[in-house]
Amino acid sequence: MSTVPPIDLTVSPSDCDAQGRITESAFVRLFETARWEQIARGPGMDRFARHGSRPVVRKANLEFQAPVGVGDRLRFETSLTHSGRTSFSFHQVVRKEGVGVVADADFVLVCVNGAGEPTAVPPEIQEFFGRRPSVRASETQHLAVRGLALALDMQGDGLPILFIHGFPFDRTMWRQVMATLTGWRRIAPDLRGLGVSDVPESYSMAEYADDLGALLDALHIPRAVVCGLSMGGYVAFELVRRHPDRVRALILANTRADADDEAGKRRRGDMIALVEREGPAALADVLLPQLLAPTNLAAMPHVAQHLRTMIAGSPVKGVVGALRAMRDRADARPLLGEIRVPTLVIAGPDDQLIPPAASRQLADAIPGAQFTLIPDAGHLCPLEQPVATSRVIAEFLEVID
Ligand code: MLT
Repeated sequence: MSTVPPIDLTVSPSDCDAQGRITESAFVRLFETARWEQIARGPGMDRFARHGSRPVVRKANLEFQAPVGVGDRLRFETSLTHSGRTSFSFHQVVRKEGVGVVADADFVLVCVNGAGEPTAVPPEIQEFFGRRPSVRASETQHLAVRGLALALDMQGDGLPILFIHGFPFDRTMWRQVMATLTGWRRIAPDLRGLGVSDVPESYSMAEYADDLGALLDALHIPRAVVCGLSMGGYVAFELVRRHPDRVRALILANTRADADDEAGKRRRGDMIALVEREGPAALADVLLPQLLAPTNLAAMPHVAQHLRTMIAGSPVKGVVGALRAMRDRADARPLLGEIRVPTLVIAGPDDQLIPPAASRQLADAIPGAQFTLIPDAGHLCPLEQPVATSRVIAEFLEVID
């Protein structure tokens, strides 16, 4: 728990919709009010001005856990989870009396000067919040790997599981699954160029896989269960190819082994042009209807919002790099018959990008692989059906652990 005193705020009618429920934009404002109120009561907001800087939000991720409405008195606790040279991250937890935690959120902020250029975080801010364990077991940290700072969330002890996110997402897509798989050491990094990891020049499946091999070195983990979703699966195949000794078992979710065909490569080119022209947010409208099962797209606005946040917050260079890396990836099918580690293939019956029949074929090509369909899911089983996905993963891990 943070030792910075919490802030109490009351939800007003203007924060709510016609049904009296808090709106997402009002909630973001309350989070912000609480954060700045804490700074105002501590070192003072003028610390930024004195250093010639102002903080701007680069990324926000909110998780609603229980309803909030007019008149609710909320307690906001804030912890600094990362402080770099020019950026810092907060984790905020909101409690309601008699209910407990009703929401939590992560915010990444960058300090900029008058010209909008990144500038140093005032040291008083870090001193005030301190670098102490935060309110949550999982804390975003940055590890120096192959000359890059890679962001990662890490939680728990036991057999290590390395979660590799899909495109164009980040480590937060694994958050619900990570939260339920207690009993194992869960590690979810942001791949280079995505989330809040550094954004270098060079991108390929080999670079991603070598980064993750080096990440395991830095964490002194000889072997991990590798769990990759979609593009994360392509990276998992590359780990099998380049670092087979590091793979204790494989979980391949909503992914495929074959390379892009000519039409697929052309689609990558179109997406690169779109992102370069209009920014990553433009991808959200194109991708969302394909990512979620049609019924979930309407029924799960919080998942759609999480996806939009991840997509819009992705750096252009990292998104373009990932699209090129996927376009140019090698066919992993020749590897499949050689895989000798326990393997679980997970698919969604309503996956519009990777038909379940293709996932079934993938499982059939890997000796001894298990195949599971997660009901009521599309391309993103861990986000659309986190409980069912976690249960299937836990059953698999219990047998091999
Ligand atoms: C993903 O979810 O990672 C992407 O759909 C993969 C791809 O575009 O091939």
